[in-house]
Amino acid sequence: MQTSLDSVLARTDANHPEAVERLKAFLRIPTVSTDPAFAADVRRGAEWLVTQLREIGFEANAMATLGHPMVVATHPGPKGVTAPRVLFYGHYDVQPADPLELWESPPFEPVVVNGPHGPRIVARGAVDDKGQVMTFIEALRAWHACAGGPPCPVTLMLEGEEESGSASLEPFMEAHRDLLKADVAIVSDTGMWDVDHPAITTMLRGLVYVEATLIGPSHDLHSGLYGGAIANPINALARMVASLHHPDGRVAIEGFYDTVRPLPEKTKAQWAKLNFDDAAFLAAAGLQHGFGEPGYSAMEQTWCRPTCDCNGIKGGYIGEGAKTVIASRASVKISCRLVADMDPEKVYKQLEAHLRARVPAGFKLEITSFGRNPPIRVADESPYLTAAEHALTGVYGVGPVRIGTGGSIPAVGSIQRILGLESLLVGFGLDDDRVHSPNEKFELTCFRRGSLSHAAILHALAQLRP
Ligand code: BES
Ligand code: MN
Ligand code: MN
Repeated sequence: MQTSLDSVLARTDANHPEAVERLKAFLRIPTVSTDPAFAADVRRGAEWLVTQLREIGFEANAMATLGHPMVVATHPGPKGVTAPRVLFYGHYDVQPADPLELWESPPFEPVVVNGPHGPRIVARGAVDDKGQVMTFIEALRAWHACAGGPPCPVTLMLEGEEESGSASLEPFMEAHRDLLKADVAIVSDTGMWDVDHPAITTMLRGLVYVEATLIGPSHDLHSGLYGGAIANPINALARMVASLHHPDGRVAIEGFYDTVRPLPEKTKAQWAKLNFDDAAFLAAAGLQHGFGEPGYSAMEQTWCRPTCDCNGIKGGYIGEGAKTVIASRASVKISCRLVADMDPEKVYKQLEAHLRARVPAGFKLEITSFGRNPPIRVADESPYLTAAEHALTGVYGVGPVRIGTGGSIPAVGSIQRILGLESLLVGFGLDDDRVHSPNEKFELTCFRRGSLSHAAILHALAQLRP
């Protein structure tokens, strides 16, 4: 029996008020994966999802990993129908809420407030990624109510470690290839072009993240008694950090750009038509002037050029008032964003060599790695993509644009490498959602139309043959 898409869309809409309540319940669980103090809450988040998914006819489990649980759920789809199996990926963990004092309402007590696009929900994880995970779960709920289940076989893999390095993801996928077998993956963890224009992301940057600690004297020293006669770890580290860039913003690490592939002409032409507004992009960050690699727009600098950024630095006396001291050590967190065809291992080695060559005599440099992920390009032509485009056009009245993003989602690379699947990156975030920042929000119109989109995408994919 064919269920009409219209009835599923109508049901998705009718469910919206309850869907907001369900999202609030999800957001109340502080699933901060990086901080061990929240481990029990992360587990509670996984179990909450399992309950939701069982309610709508899925076989669902919170499966053990060496870290936080992986939620996996499967549905066979309608009997006797040969349609592609869709693998949905999202993450239920969130970033830490700090700095707490900058939140206008408590991060784990979601509130709905009004903004220029109507009501929005404010909480840690609202858009990254709990609200987006709920867009496809709500679509699946509507399909369950109208047709007893989705129109094609569906698997969900919901990760609890995305915001803290995805350490268990690849081992888990390697160990459960059969369980995760599918024909196409859908990932909702990216953004739209703007509130009325959907987007499909085709490029993600990779990431190499390290912490480097420079260790000098055996203990902190009086800066009068020793100053001038020995190297100062903070001074030396500052030089090391400064040496990472040329004054114009180009990265100065030897060999860094060697394998960077220029943007394909076709993508270049597509992006040119987007009319990316550099001034508005800067204004959203409270700035009037850009910076960085000469000859590239802000859009190109963030979507298709590599970077090296200092993310945090510590050392010495940072309390009130003056203290005359030479610290015995200083450290810096550095992240490099990578683009095709940069190799994370190579960049790690180049960065390490660059830093080691600048260590003062007799000092030690300790480097801790926080993960290495390759840059990603997904297929920008496929029957799946065409079907998704068609479905999005039905919901928004206008087709999706193809975009890149400066962010990284390690799972997309793992899904490509281990499961051999291309991902459709269909996200519903907006540029001003304050991802990872205080007062993170998700527009309810994005939540509602995102859910409608997934309902329609499932319908469109179910017409294809695997
Ligand atoms: N969902 C984000 C990435 C993102 C945000 C893509 C906005 C597109 C638009 C993801 O959760 C994230 O924050 N990724 C991290 C990488 C991870 C290894 C910590 C990132 O990009 O810093
Ligand atoms: Mn995310
Ligand atoms: Mn994130």
